[in-house]
Amino acid sequence: MKYKIVTRSRVGLPVLILGIGCFIGSSCSNTRQQSSDTNTSVKGLKYYYRDYFTMGVAVSPWALKTDEAGLIVDQFNGLTPENAMKMGPIHPMENQYYWKDADSIIAFAKRHNMKVRGHALVWHQQTPDWLFKDAEGKQVSKEVLLQRIKDHITTVVQRYKGSIYAWDVVNEAISDDPKEVYRQSKFYQICGDEFITKAFEWAHAADPDAVLFYNDYNEINPVKRAKIIAMIKQLQSAGVPIHAVGLQAHWAINEPTEAQLDQTFKDFIELKLPLQITELDISVYSKEHNARDKKVPADADTAYTTEKEDLQTKQYGMCFKLFRKYKDHLTGVTFWNISDRHSWLDDFPVRNRKDHPLLFNRNLRPKKPYTAVIDF
Ligand code: XIL
Repeated sequence: MKYKIVTRSRVGLPVLILGIGCFIGSSCSNTRQQSSDTNTSVKGLKYYYRDYFTMGVAVSPWALKTDEAGLIVDQFNGLTPENAMKMGPIHPMENQYYWKDADSIIAFAKRHNMKVRGHALVWHQQTPDWLFKDAEGKQVSKEVLLQRIKDHITTVVQRYKGSIYAWDVVNEAISDDPKEVYRQSKFYQICGDEFITKAFEWAHAADPDAVLFYNDYNEINPVKRAKIIAMIKQLQSAGVPIHAVGLQAHWAINEPTEAQLDQTFKDFIELKLPLQITELDISVYSKEHNARDKKVPADADTAYTTEKEDLQTKQYGMCFKLFRKYKDHLTGVTFWNISDRHSWLDDFPVRNRKDHPLLFNRNLRPKKPYTAVIDF
């Protein structure tokens, strides 16, 4: 997946919301004070799924200072920092860490008794400029890069020991190209697949209690899925401390099909590891995997029409039906962003095309797909 790195975007055309009325407390009001996690008058997603799995959401530190905070506290019991713990943002210079944003997310989670997933220790995107270069600007050796990865993982994981229950240790290391196994990232080009093994070992040494995940997308594709599973089996048989699998679940109204998702779960279950849906969103556009510019007029229609709403409602309903079916294997479901006010899909795969992939609209009210998720 190739995408432009954006920090935050609030652009988008006004949308026509045909959703359901206001029925869940603070989500209906921009003025109501934040409720605490003990407030039982609000029945949010975490309430409906209390016997199933953690309900999480990916957040920025800024969102936690807006009216979205109340919605988060009412609906969710898990947080993932959307960007704040990635290598670039948290470790911008070799001898300098930037903790403020990540710390503020941890503090919010503590105040509201929410679990935090760490995301992500080693990923080919959002890496800092210094990581692969020596003082002369030349590419570093394998030994130097592995040492830098070790220092990074050790420092970050130790800092949040006890505050973060699970880490995405390696993110997106498998290639989408059916002809190759590993992504041809700088990490891979310099270190080979050893960086994967080492990353898990160093994370485990830094916090033996953290649940360590391999996380990837396009897991519903049988070819890529087989490669992910084969890699994990290899790690398991080598005794590498890998404890769980994250299925990103950046899906769309046209995929996955029910049969495809069911098969996906069946295949991953064979690993006998806990699974999590780590980055759920359901785009209202047909799935595309590569970044591109807008095509006119095909991409101009960004309204959230009744047709899109109905398709999204069906798709969310189907996905959660299967999540419930596989609840004995699934320990968490995390949405990637809070509401249609802002999603990373507003800029990916089509740059500057508004998407509406989440359960809450721009006024933070639950959409019709929300009813499909809680109606069981
Ligand atoms: C995305 C963020 O949502 C964007 O804000 C950022 O510009 C790029 O990264 N897979 C992942 C996430 O593992 O970290 C990505 O998050 C989305 C795809």
